[in-house]
Amino acid sequence: MSNRFTLGDVASAAALCGLSSAEEEELLVQVNKLDEHVSLDLLNQYAEFMTKASGENFVPRIDSCEIPAGRLWYIEPFCGSTTYVLETAERLVVVDSGFPCYAEELKKTLRSLFPDYDSRQKDQILTHMDMDHAGILDGFENIWMSKTSFEDFLGRAKGKPNLRERHPVRTPVYRISSLLSRDISADTTHMRSINTFDPEEGRPLSYIGTLNIEPFSFAVYETSGGHVAGSILLYEKENRLVFTGDTLVNPADMGDGQKAFIALGTAMLGSMNADSAKAKAERAEMFALLDAGGWILCPGHGFPMRYTV
Ligand SMILES: [Fe+2]
Repeated sequence: MSNRFTLGDVASAAALCGLSSAEEEELLVQVNKLDEHVSLDLLNQYAEFMTKASGENFVPRIDSCEIPAGRLWYIEPFCGSTTYVLETAERLVVVDSGFPCYAEELKKTLRSLFPDYDSRQKDQILTHMDMDHAGILDGFENIWMSKTSFEDFLGRAKGKPNLRERHPVRTPVYRISSLLSRDISADTTHMRSINTFDPEEGRPLSYIGTLNIEPFSFAVYETSGGHVAGSILLYEKENRLVFTGDTLVNPADMGDGQKAFIALGTAMLGSMNADSAKAKAERAEMFALLDAGGWILCPGHGFPMRYTV
């Protein structure tokens, strides 16, 4: 490990993100493990992103459309995943929930959209374990995910490195991201595995089971790990919806903050994907699974796309 940086070099990022002195020490340790191409400037830009849209500055793009079962809402923050809410008379089903550092801001938005949000029966589905998708993990009866992601959360609760942090070269960047955007909650009480079947080795997408949350029935497919291991896609045929996680993003309908953040992440990591060739094969299979007619594709970042087969 080099010692090219000192505490003074990370002080402004640490102060901006409200890190404790122990966290600041860890930030320095991780920064000194970074590849040469990752500059202090990139680190400071990341810290700015994590704080720029906090509090009163949290002004997400919000829209919705009617679906047979009720209404589909999409909420896109300045950075972090698009959060989807399936609203029916019976319940709310949330798909992904942004960054942990914006959890309170997103809850405030949800309470403004759904005045009875706190008392409402609600489930969340996590498309994958990345920190920009798992911001709110409290208040849900069930938090559904693949078995791979569930086991990852169980491991984290015991202090084990997560799926991203097991990557030898990228580990410091992920640790730094977690420190600056607040770690994901380690409470696994309400987390549930979707799997009826294990994914098949070598297949771009494997059917792992059907998740029934009345009135929805999601056919769930696990990817081969192109974006990150344990990622899932959800097909809801009655309502013609596909939730893709980060196997698909929509730069054509995405806020400027999202675009800049993805560019920054790519500069820091080289690619947001663990294996882009696998991700490409997964996308091809994703489209091949669509039957004839109109669909609404709900990407991990950006707004939904209408798509006709
Ligand atoms: Fe993401």
